[in-house]
Amino acid sequence: MDIFAERLKRNYDELKWLYMELYDNEDMYAELEKELGSFYGERSSSLKKIDLIREKDRDWYKQGDMLGMMLYIDQFAGNIEGVREKLPYIRECNVNYLHLMPFLDTPYGKSDGGYAVKDFRKVRADLGTMDDLDRLTEECHREGISVCMDFVMNHTSDEHEWAIKAKGGDGEYMSRYFFYRDKSIPDAYEKTVPQVFPATAPGNFTYINEAAHYVMTTFYPYQWDLNYKNPRVFNEMMYNFLYLANRGIDIVRLDAVPYIWKELNTSSRNLPKVHTIVRLMRIISEIVCPGVLLLGEVVMEPSKVVPYFGTLEKPECHLLYNVTTMATTWHTVATRDTGLLKKQLDIVNGLPHDYVFLNYLRCHDDIGWGLDFETLKKDGIEEVPHKNYLNSFFLGKTGYSKSRGELYNYDPVTQDARLCGTTASLCGIEKAGFEGNEAEMEEAVSLDIMLHAYLFMQSGIHVLYSGDEIGQVNDYTYKEDPSKAADSRYLHRGVFIWENAEKKSDKKTVEGRIFKSLGALEAIRKANKAFGVDARVITRDTGDRSVLCIERSFEGKSIIGIFNFSEEEKAAHIEGLQGGYRDMLTSKKVELPDIMMPGYGFFYIEA
Ligand code: GLC
Repeated sequence: MDIFAERLKRNYDELKWLYMELYDNEDMYAELEKELGSFYGERSSSLKKIDLIREKDRDWYKQGDMLGMMLYIDQFAGNIEGVREKLPYIRECNVNYLHLMPFLDTPYGKSDGGYAVKDFRKVRADLGTMDDLDRLTEECHREGISVCMDFVMNHTSDEHEWAIKAKGGDGEYMSRYFFYRDKSIPDAYEKTVPQVFPATAPGNFTYINEAAHYVMTTFYPYQWDLNYKNPRVFNEMMYNFLYLANRGIDIVRLDAVPYIWKELNTSSRNLPKVHTIVRLMRIISEIVCPGVLLLGEVVMEPSKVVPYFGTLEKPECHLLYNVTTMATTWHTVATRDTGLLKKQLDIVNGLPHDYVFLNYLRCHDDIGWGLDFETLKKDGIEEVPHKNYLNSFFLGKTGYSKSRGELYNYDPVTQDARLCGTTASLCGIEKAGFEGNEAEMEEAVSLDIMLHAYLFMQSGIHVLYSGDEIGQVNDYTYKEDPSKAADSRYLHRGVFIWENAEKKSDKKTVEGRIFKSLGALEAIRKANKAFGVDARVITRDTGDRSVLCIERSFEGKSIIGIFNFSEEEKAAHIEGLQGGYRDMLTSKKVELPDIMMPGYGFFYIEA
């Protein structure tokens, strides 16, 4: 039996069962199965080889040796060919996982950063062609770099071929979206469905004059939600997924996946059928392209996130974002209190080691304050005032803050707002640079490096946003571009400044200090098995609320990270550890349990 037939046989029962449960449609199932065979047939022999290797070594992405970088192709290097030419720089950053932000065809000015796709099989003309993408992924594979791309599966652009036909009144295409002649059903949905962009795109429906209908638009009015109740939508989107996987994509980011199934009288988020669809996708990828990983974009509270891993027998996503840890990290910066973070890390570290998280300090999106407010409440911290405090802190308006952030989607009704800014600007590097304040710069750079060091102590895969490796600050030019001005997320999606990257080897510069420090930390991480997902990870009491201690142990070897989230020097007392240790960065001796922690300082130590 050939490999495809064998994989299909292995998965047939569940695939067919779930498909029929969802759609009860034999013909559409038969078509799907036939198409899976075609996509397998079209898959290149080199990708099939990778599939076989990864099928045998299913834990290939769990070794703790992956470092990611996410970037917008145009902002980084103009076009795909430019990215290919810049691969040596990416290698120098020790990056072996490259997330190319949305690059498919999208209408100018109505793109939501590329998340409104006009054609899933075409690259945006100014960025290059599918052939360029093939070349880039091939070269990345030669260099040992895995490539990630977004699969924007919840919606299409209103200029997608289907949307255009639907606007023209073609019922077959209208049924691929959620169309309503009168407002009664949209109104009923609005009662229970929250808003994603309350300020920039209020409501979940848009009236389409040409079609004289309302259409569901959870995100921007030009992003039309796809109706996965229609098997044609599911099948076609799976073909698009496989087409892209066959371009050599290793990691497929399932954009906004919690939103893909809608039901009246529910929040239309994380519904059980979302999991059926993700499970079906996983099975389909196991059959056609088992080397491909699914990364779920589930920006939700922890109880909603973890189910997207599925179960051991019926896995769904391979990777998920560690979003609560990210938000809790910035809460810790603003409060200098590691209590909540310690609790959050203990929860994550207590999860099965098969769950691999993507850790990050910030991404292309805003930082939403999805914190464990129930725990904070016990310390007398209330949700709304605390969110207000965090936002004013990172806007640089509160107390000792040196941050330069901007608000995102302030909702006057709930008083909720999220936050934008690059890591460096949130750490104070922008302000200190602008004011020429050397002492403040020292502090800001220390905070920036300490945060990366703390991040690298977590299990999973780390993803840097391009530019953060050299402390790049906010870019305010988006305000002058009418196609971007209303969306403050562009503040932290600026053009990569190559001139600054040239300073990466000069330790006297901010760029050089951050770049070199990250390099040293990555080298330690790669050389030590204690950073793998199988390590036992615990936090220890430190006798000071500002100081966090994380210990990673594997095969009798422990590595301890101690981090001071305050700008003040702290005397810490590490519970349960005693004796002489070695500072892994300077080789100096360190004595525990009592240790002086410089402001925003950190240690990586081993016995
Ligand atoms: C995801 C993306 C975000 C986009 C949204 C709609 O959340 O990360 O940038 O606006 O999906 O596609």
